[in-house]
Amino acid sequence: MQAVTSLDISGLEVFSKGKVRDLYDLGENLLVVASDRVSAFDYVLPSGIPDKGKILTALSSFWFKHMENISEHHLITDRVEEFPGSLKMYQDVLRHRSMLVKKARRIDIECIVRGYLAGSAWKEYSASGTVAGCELPGGLKENSKLEKPIFTPSTKADDGHDRNITVSEMRDIAGSKPTEEVMATSVRLFEEASVFAGARGVTLLDTKFEFGYLDEKIILIDEALTPDSSRFLVEEKSGSEPVNLDKQFIRDFLEGMGWDKDSPPPVLPDHVVTECRRRYLMLFERLTGEIPQWAR
Ligand SMILES: Nc1ncnc2c1ncn2[C@@H]1O[C@H](COP(=O)(O)OP(=O)(O)OP(=O)(O)O)[C@@H](O)[C@H]1O
Ligand SMILES: [Mg+2]
Repeated sequence: MQAVTSLDISGLEVFSKGKVRDLYDLGENLLVVASDRVSAFDYVLPSGIPDKGKILTALSSFWFKHMENISEHHLITDRVEEFPGSLKMYQDVLRHRSMLVKKARRIDIECIVRGYLAGSAWKEYSASGTVAGCELPGGLKENSKLEKPIFTPSTKADDGHDRNITVSEMRDIAGSKPTEEVMATSVRLFEEASVFAGARGVTLLDTKFEFGYLDEKIILIDEALTPDSSRFLVEEKSGSEPVNLDKQFIRDFLEGMGWDKDSPPPVLPDHVVTECRRRYLMLFERLTGEIPQWAR
């Protein structure tokens, strides 16, 4: 199985190339193409995960539709047959990994919601007893449930090095009213997704949303509640130790092997690639109850 780490779509105007997605400018709309690239600790790794872009696309579409009563979103369609005629010649490369979306003016903030103490929040808490500068009760462990979900924004920096900020700093950057709005929407999305996932035996630990303006309206953009943008825990067998079905698996591998995060990132061994694909697909199946037709 081959990972698709670069896509040959010459002939379309590039809007931007992200670590994982390539965006093409279609005027009012954008074409978002999710590759199989993996980013971790602000680096793009030399190895891709086969089908990852397809899983992220299918899962984001699923959540956008499931949560549209809470937030309007940018997705128009992920069916290549419904893309503009000008994209017909690219159908085979685009199929299952692309979305036609509304072009938005991005709010340059990562809207992170945490229901549990994981990732950088756990690192901060274990060092100082705080998360995003706020004091938390003592004695919490990694992945402990927080009393209620907390909103911990960070900047979305073009140089790739995002910086944690306070809600008050976010107000200065994005404005007071928009900050209140995206904060409330992010927490509602998180709570709704937590209940949905919980009913399927999946714990949503934390996630990141992005928003943008469509005219004067704020809509949800980018990806939603994927294993790249979120942390999910499941017990594979009842009573077994919960495992991460998300990118934490890759981060743990990289930290475990002693990579200094300063030199070029290492190639992932085959077993790590295979296991990551298995976990991403398992998450999709647990949440949606389906195995994608292309993975059967
Ligand atoms: N509807 C939209 N309008 C404008 N920009 C969008 C829209 N949807 C997504 N984007 C932007 O497109 C880019 C998606 O690419 P990608 O996720 O690869 O980038 P990245 O965020 O740099 O990488 P990573 O996710 O690894 O941090 C992001 O910069 C995102 O903010
Ligand atoms: Mg991204």
